[in-house]
Amino acid sequence: MLLAAVGCGDSKSEGDATEDTSGGLIGISMPTDDQARWITDGENLTYQFERLGYTADMKVADGQPARQIQQIQSMIDAGAKALVISAVDGKSLSGVLAKAHEAKVKVVAYDRLIEGTADVDYFATFDGQRVGQLQANYLVDALELRSGGDPVTIELFAGSADDNNASVFYKGAMGVLKPFIDSGRLDVRSGQTAFTQVTTKGWSDEVARQRMSTILKEYYEDGNVDAVLSPYDGISRGVLQAIKAAGAKRPVITGQDAEIESVKLIASGQQDQTVFKDTRKLAELAASMVDAALKGDSPKVTDTTQFDNGVKIVPTALLEPVTVVKSNYEKVLVGSSYYSAQQVGLAS
Ligand code: BGC
Repeated sequence: MLLAAVGCGDSKSEGDATEDTSGGLIGISMPTDDQARWITDGENLTYQFERLGYTADMKVADGQPARQIQQIQSMIDAGAKALVISAVDGKSLSGVLAKAHEAKVKVVAYDRLIEGTADVDYFATFDGQRVGQLQANYLVDALELRSGGDPVTIELFAGSADDNNASVFYKGAMGVLKPFIDSGRLDVRSGQTAFTQVTTKGWSDEVARQRMSTILKEYYEDGNVDAVLSPYDGISRGVLQAIKAAGAKRPVITGQDAEIESVKLIASGQQDQTVFKDTRKLAELAASMVDAALKGDSPKVTDTTQFDNGVKIVPTALLEPVTVVKSNYEKVLVGSSYYSAQQVGLAS
């Protein structure tokens, strides 16, 4: 976490932080510190808001929807002018966001869509369908699925069902993989292909480890699983632990977030792929949306059709994710100063 923060901290040299905090208070609500990225996201957001002349208050909800609601309420009570929220449970915030809007507080959903409420103004995120496509395309190429041949076994993992991103990533991936499953070229031996069968509560590595271990016992006693679609690096590491414990052959496996631990696994040939989402850019984007909204300008949005939260279509700005593999991690991650060469083990 701290290591990632150092990498992401490099963006801080791009502008001079100003001491003028007269812009007012901005509340930043992050979901958890169980996954490395969120603290870095919170720090990058804080930096961006301070640079624009605001005061930022960042709170982390420890994966608990009730705590997040409480924290957001206290930010409203403290006079926040805007809230930037990455939800633990995208459907749990309607009540508190109604109060935010009554108090004329602007609300920006950060990375994760907030659902079931009209009281969200904008959404800043990465193209999640594309994330899933990048993972699936990697598998299609690595397994040479297009060239015909014997069936290849695969097991599928998705993220946490309470996070809208999980189904978006899965949909993107399955759009690519399903034709191969339908034709029999890919064999999901467990038969678990429905989103509800493959989710991973809390994006937890331990939950993933247990599910992989059960699947191996029940369906792969006679051999190895050839590939695993994993939506997130922590889940990939949990799956790899189960594989190791079972003494099975390492499958071709994807991931997401370019977490430092997984980047090292990619460098040493133990994980194949991850998806890099430059969270420095997302923080900058979200802060610029808030700044424009508070100044009465229209924030730049790139999508006004896709993100229906059940009550409204949330105006959205999308960033592009990038696939990272052994041959490009140095260029993409070190070259952009997201990580230092030392952090990824390229220098001592
Ligand atoms: C984010 C991913 C992250 C996952 C688990 C998702 O909402 O988009 O980047 O890996 O949550 O924290």
